[in-house]
Amino acid sequence: MDKLVVHGGSPLRGSVNISGSKNASLPILAAAILSGEDCIIRRVPDVSDTNYMIQILSALGADVERSSGTVRITCADISDEAPYELVRRMRASICVMGPLLARKGRAVVSLPGGCVIGDRPVDLHLRGLEALGAKVEFEGGNIILTAPDGLRGAEIDLRGSNGPTVLGTDNVMMAATLAEGITVIESAAAEPEVLDLANFLNAMGAKIEGAGTRRITIEGVKELRGVEHTVIPDRIEAGTFMAAAALAGEGVTLNRICREHLKAITEQIIKSGHRVEFNAEGDSCTVYRGEELRGCEISTSPYPGYPTDMQAQMTALLVTTPGISLIKDTIFPQRFMHCSELKRMGADIKVDNGTAIIRGVEKLSAAPVMASDLRASAALVLAALTAKGSTEISRLYHIDRGYEHIDEKLLTLGAAVERVKG
Ligand code: EPZ
Repeated sequence: MDKLVVHGGSPLRGSVNISGSKNASLPILAAAILSGEDCIIRRVPDVSDTNYMIQILSALGADVERSSGTVRITCADISDEAPYELVRRMRASICVMGPLLARKGRAVVSLPGGCVIGDRPVDLHLRGLEALGAKVEFEGGNIILTAPDGLRGAEIDLRGSNGPTVLGTDNVMMAATLAEGITVIESAAAEPEVLDLANFLNAMGAKIEGAGTRRITIEGVKELRGVEHTVIPDRIEAGTFMAAAALAGEGVTLNRICREHLKAITEQIIKSGHRVEFNAEGDSCTVYRGEELRGCEISTSPYPGYPTDMQAQMTALLVTTPGISLIKDTIFPQRFMHCSELKRMGADIKVDNGTAIIRGVEKLSAAPVMASDLRASAALVLAALTAKGSTEISRLYHIDRGYEHIDEKLLTLGAAVERVKG
């Protein structure tokens, strides 16, 4: 297993191009199942999660070609049974369920495993698909959905105890595009990635209104056509590099971003004392480390609130910010695996009932640490940038799931990092 060695103390400067969004690419790749025609999807990041999705679609019978960031996918003849071993290894592959059910009238998809950030139920997905007329059965670790008479539009409230569901909204929205009649999704997720998927579906000929708000209306159509689409920028990768620039930067510019998607993240970076300047078009920003730093209080919440996917990275920034900071994760209350590793490096953090209480220290020190999930690994890389000594981060495959060539991007900015093949 590869490791990343980060030699702390090198300042970051210059500019970096942010990749296309992993979390927009995954449901959009799955949505290609809804048509038998060619779909061309651009700016798909080369990360293991998107590569898994492409493997799953190929195993289903799709014809897939990938050249750098562009994927051409044609689902002319598609099976309704997703490969168990592949699906169970990546939770997000659950988003093939809705398109398969709509296109084939049947879908067999492995129950996703849980993961270190918390239990990952799919009860809301199934609530929505059942409301559209699907019959749900479980057998051998698979979910078996059937709708022999097709799907019919319905009024569905997708709210769960931890708020809306992003992939659940995606699954129901995709299935509803080919259902008979009108579907209304209340308490829908409003993330930019949901809106990007809706734009992709509408370009295929779907009739979706309200995506990006809590109430989405879908009028079913008979079939969907092939389409060309460019995926939105990855707001979490952008936020991660903003935090890196605030930690170790002497003016770092991020290109190919979308200011609109970064409001909540930008607000907290500025609140903790740093400077962020966007260009007029809002597709580039420069982050300057501040002089007067201060702790802050953050509570994650569904978009447009502060994203849970940026909770660990902000923790890495705040552990060496003077004062007390509080970070509460209302979406994944167990998503604090990074804290024990940061404490090995000298951070002063107490995790209590879904909240990290951070007392800023002067400097961290290098230590051998272990990545545990995608965003926790990113937090460890950030912390290592300014730690004394060389930090060795093992289980790098976690970070390769969702960050495209992160070591090369950091090297371009002047960081002293090296990937050690293991
Ligand atoms: C998406 O996961 C993202 N993944 C996650 O990013 C992100 O953390 C999450 O949304 C929340 O923003 C992708 O888009 C591929 P949810 P998703 O359904 O859709 C509960 C990353 O780091 N819930 O919105 O699977 C659930 O337990 C990843 O890139 C139910 O109770 O998350 C959680 O508490 C990690 N029942 C809350 O809802 C359900 O049926 C939000 O989960 C589904 C979810």
